Amino acid sequence: STPPTFYDQIGGHDAFVGIVHRFYERVAQDPVLRPLYPEEDLGPAEVRLRMFLEQYWGGPRTYSDQRGHPRLRMRHAPFTIGMPERDAWLAAMQHAVDGADLAEADRERLWAYLVMAADSLVNSLH
Ligand code: HEM
Repeated sequence: STPPTFYDQIGGHDAFVGIVHRFYERVAQDPVLRPLYPEEDLGPAEVRLRMFLEQYWGGPRTYSDQRGHPRLRMRHAPFTIGMPERDAWLAAMQHAVDGADLAEADRERLWAYLVMAADSLVNSLH
């Protein structure tokens, strides 16, 4: 048998559905983030981020089956992401992660990744 993945460890699909749903509830209300999203319906974007994170943490590989290689730097190139956008994204995500009620070590591991990933997607000094 294989060791449980981080995906399993924090509660599998339901945990990721909850985190990403809370995140997009914030995005919908956020004056910095909301204008960046090209589509009126945030539902499809919510599914893409959820599938990506599930795959990254060892869950189903549905993201790559549907979207191919993540290439996140390239996929974010159309959007101006400076420090204000990075900070707003992380603030919404912090609220979302806090709502998941994770064990402290799990929360820290997830959070360290999200900060690193958000930093890596900054593409503007505006
Ligand atoms: C897509 C903004 C950080 C993962 C998007 C989209 C926007 C956006 C506007 C397009 C929505 C869509 O149609 O899917 C931002 C901003 C960030 C940020 C402002 C601040 C730093 C991140 C981070 C991750 C991430 C840290 C991963 C940990 C994704 C994924 C998609 C996406 C997986 C969908 C890509 C696709 O398959 O087309 N993001 N993002 N983003 N973002 Fe971000």
